[in-house]
Amino acid sequence: MGNTLAILTGGGDCPGLNAVIRGVVRSAVGLHNWRVLGIEDGFEGLIGKIRRRDLTLDSVSGILPRGGTILGTSNRGNPFSYPVTVNGKVELQDISDRVLQEFHKSGAEVLIAVGGDGTLKIAQGLYEKGLPVIGVPKTIDNDLRATDVTFGYRTAVAIVTEALDRLHSTAESHHRVMVVEVMGRDAGWIALESGIAGSADVILIPEIPYSVDRICAAIEQRRGRGLRFSIVVVAEGAVAAEGNKVVLQTAAENFGVERLGGVGHAVAQQITAQLDMEIRVVILGHLQRGGSPTPYDRILASRFGVKAVELIAQKKFGRMVALRGRKVVDVEIASAISQLNLVDPAGELVATAESLGIMVGR
Ligand code: F6P
Repeated sequence: MGNTLAILTGGGDCPGLNAVIRGVVRSAVGLHNWRVLGIEDGFEGLIGKIRRRDLTLDSVSGILPRGGTILGTSNRGNPFSYPVTVNGKVELQDISDRVLQEFHKSGAEVLIAVGGDGTLKIAQGLYEKGLPVIGVPKTIDNDLRATDVTFGYRTAVAIVTEALDRLHSTAESHHRVMVVEVMGRDAGWIALESGIAGSADVILIPEIPYSVDRICAAIEQRRGRGLRFSIVVVAEGAVAAEGNKVVLQTAAENFGVERLGGVGHAVAQQITAQLDMEIRVVILGHLQRGGSPTPYDRILASRFGVKAVELIAQKKFGRMVALRGRKVVDVEIASAISQLNLVDPAGELVATAESLGIMVGR
């Protein structure tokens, strides 16, 4: 390793990205006296002429509590499948060789890629083409298998829990059913944990196809006990036993990434037919990704940033930092992206929710 590393943040933003950047810069510059380049807007910043800036101790001062990412991010710009217009038609091309050439021109020798599944897959592809890469996992969905938890997740759970607390009083005052749609494409962690913390009555997650009849029965049962309101938390990837995922935009319509959204309204429509109650839908959307990270996420993200630099010093490339138990360790990026971390329908957390009287869709 010479003395210049580059860092980028890719995919959806999440609270704690700036804490990683700061951790990387503080240890790379402060401990090793290396130079750090920040690539702008994820892999988009490596396409065409590289868009980058120097990250110094001064430039990361004050960013620890800030949400988002000072480097910008993007879900687009996959160099292995990049849309190029040829004779008026859009084709997906592999432009990774050009990206690597551009990267090397910048003087950087190593890349730290901070991102979720999509970003880490691209990072692995570049590693296989010879680029020394370190991965740092992020996603509010907490759906990466190789780490016990991703930073950003706990902040999202705190935001949703606060929203549920607030929705209780208005639901109760108006005797309404509030259907609250939260993020979680494949994994229902946010819905399940915030639902337990925020005292939801029904929680619907992608891992457990839901029964409309059983949701209505649970709400009616509460009404029978004199509880004339209910809170239903639904993850955006939840599906009815007899239905399909609710998709806002297909992958073809949205640069290769399927956009979910709208399941809250679908659930409201499905239960309206059977319930003589007023129903309102709240979609928390990107609120869950915005704002300042919790202390837990600041600490985890800082530990990940410092560990990433340590791995570079040890020349352990193709590795991703991860939390296992109480320790930050490193695992192969290739193994980290091979499987998702999903809620176990037969696991302790779902059983706890059910023992608390929460209906989890089945
Ligand atoms: O993967 C994180 C996530 O927040 C998902 O839960 C959600 O489906 C997606 O990002 C939304 O992405 P976008 O910012 O492109 O709308």
